[in-house]
Amino acid sequence: MQTLLAPATTHLLEAAALLAAGDLVAFPTETVYGLGADARSRAAVEKIYAAKGRPSGNPVIVHLADPADAPTCVTTWPPLAEKLAQLFWPGPLTLILPRSPLLTDAVSAGRSTVALRCPNHPVAEALLRTCGFPIAAPSANRSGFTSPTTAQHVYAELAGRIPLILDGGPSTIGLESTVLDLTSKTPTILRPGAVTREMLQSAIGPVLTFHQSLVPSTSAISPGQHHRHYAPTTPAFSISRIDWSAHEEKIRTRSDKIILITYDPAIALPAPHEVLLLPPTAEKYAAALYASLRQADDLTASCILVLLPDNLEGMWAAVVDRLHRATIPFSIT
Ligand code: TXA
Ligand code: MG
Repeated sequence: MQTLLAPATTHLLEAAALLAAGDLVAFPTETVYGLGADARSRAAVEKIYAAKGRPSGNPVIVHLADPADAPTCVTTWPPLAEKLAQLFWPGPLTLILPRSPLLTDAVSAGRSTVALRCPNHPVAEALLRTCGFPIAAPSANRSGFTSPTTAQHVYAELAGRIPLILDGGPSTIGLESTVLDLTSKTPTILRPGAVTREMLQSAIGPVLTFHQSLVPSTSAISPGQHHRHYAPTTPAFSISRIDWSAHEEKIRTRSDKIILITYDPAIALPAPHEVLLLPPTAEKYAAALYASLRQADDLTASCILVLLPDNLEGMWAAVVDRLHRATIPFSIT
């Protein structure tokens, strides 16, 4: 299949027509690019799983043009959901609620719940409004690999597998949305994101964070949160500042090329190694992270080493969560 990578401004109607015909279209959102299909059609949503090589047990997020559309996609729309939608939609917050039969059960991958969000991006919003139906869209990468934050990233992952990629420039947030389960007794973050736990707690009171490692992977509440995810293809390791200090000499004198991703210019490596310096604030770091993992892959080294931020406040929690999934802990051999 030929894949067209085209400006969103000129190809919006074509994208809507493809989606209405049951085909797939990749489109920009403020978090990462999504791979869209008509969320009412089982056949269309099944194409997402095939194109991504996504495990059939991992449900996808359903995107809406307008918060007012949400109650039709669920069997109950509690006041808590209404409050969160008013505060954070359109934006990087996904809410898990019981699914209405209006949506194909393929979006739920065998569950009774659905994940909903209104993206805060002019192209995503225009596409949703033009279609007039909800769009199911996971991140537009092959399953297990780094989420795309540009149309070119999508092309590198999915060329030949989908007909159209709408180019709307780089995603500004750069990390996937916060996923909040509203079906549990206490609202629970299944995946941290730009809407932080602190922000949620100040809006609605106590919020739990689900840690995948507490339960066996077979009973995963949010199956996309299994450990190895968002990963580059070059072996990637995370390293704490303490381990860096302990092993710096051994690392810097290695003869094989290492790519170091750091937010601290004082932590560096000489040639033949290469250093990718990311910004020191969580929001800017997040926006640059996935592009830098791809860049590190392209530099063909024997491994990628990522300095772990030791701050877990605000959006650093989401950054560190993704780094833990994209890498394995550094150990000296
Ligand atoms: O920012 C985002 O959320 C992007 C953009 C495109 O909107 N989408 C995205 O989708 O990251 P995806 O499929 O790559 O991640 C969705 C996450 C997965 O971890 C999945 O398991 C979880 O949400 N999820 C989806 N539906 C769920 C459900 N019904 N119950 C629990 N978890 C669910
Ligand atoms: Mg994904």
